[in-house]
Amino acid sequence: MEFSMAYEDTSDRVPVLLIHGYPLSNILWDLQMGDLSDIARLVAPDLRGHGQTDPTDPPYSMGLFADDCANLLDQLGLTGPVVVGGLSMGGYIAFEFARKYPEKVAGLILAATRAGADSAEVKEARDQAAGVAIAEGTTVIAEGMLPKLLAPGSYENQPDLVDFVREMMLETSEDGIVGALAAMRDRPDSTPDLTALQVPVLVVHGEEDQLIPLAEAVAMAAALPMSRLVAIPNAGHLPNLEQPEAFNDAVREFLEIFYDE
Ligand code: MLT
Repeated sequence: MEFSMAYEDTSDRVPVLLIHGYPLSNILWDLQMGDLSDIARLVAPDLRGHGQTDPTDPPYSMGLFADDCANLLDQLGLTGPVVVGGLSMGGYIAFEFARKYPEKVAGLILAATRAGADSAEVKEARDQAAGVAIAEGTTVIAEGMLPKLLAPGSYENQPDLVDFVREMMLETSEDGIVGALAAMRDRPDSTPDLTALQVPVLVVHGEEDQLIPLAEAVAMAAALPMSRLVAIPNAGHLPNLEQPEAFNDAVREFLEIFYDE
């Protein structure tokens, strides 16, 4: 009699690359790694100079970050298309990844991010911040950003989250900060590329984002041919940490609709 063995193999789950923002690390995604692994294969790198990944000399570029992500996927044997998710700077990298490696993109999750490039004023502020990181240390950068990252209610109600975000930022190396600031300063405007993105895109944004107003995400979603927009109440720039249930529900629904076989 022919014998056949029953088995489960999670490698058939849709691969999702999760790219963190600045100046953060892959622990940003802890609450997604735990909750969404039944539906997706989640890969969350630390970008160079961030978290546990060694720095290299700055400057960095979006192209370099995108190449790093593509190389990681290759190393993991993920040669087919994946859903590329990015939060804020991670979204800027996702746009670059889609430009450089369109054949590797099955869809996008654009969290707390924008398509536009930096204004001249913001570019100057990037250079000033790099100068501060070098002259005064990275703690000044982290403490300067902390009050803008979360919704007002998150500071009041989630003190442990505030500490977690502070610690995550303090892990970022000086080269990582200076390198990422240059990469963000020099990134191109992705707005003209939006209409050509013929893949499903989830745009997910905190209603109280102080760094990137919700209106920008609304406009971005409207310009994308195949988008779903989810605005998360009581969340600022880190909606996946501030309101993990709402964020994970949005991702789960998106993956179920477009990628569940
Ligand atoms: C981020 O959260 O990744 C950055 O603050 C984005 C930016 O500065 O443009």
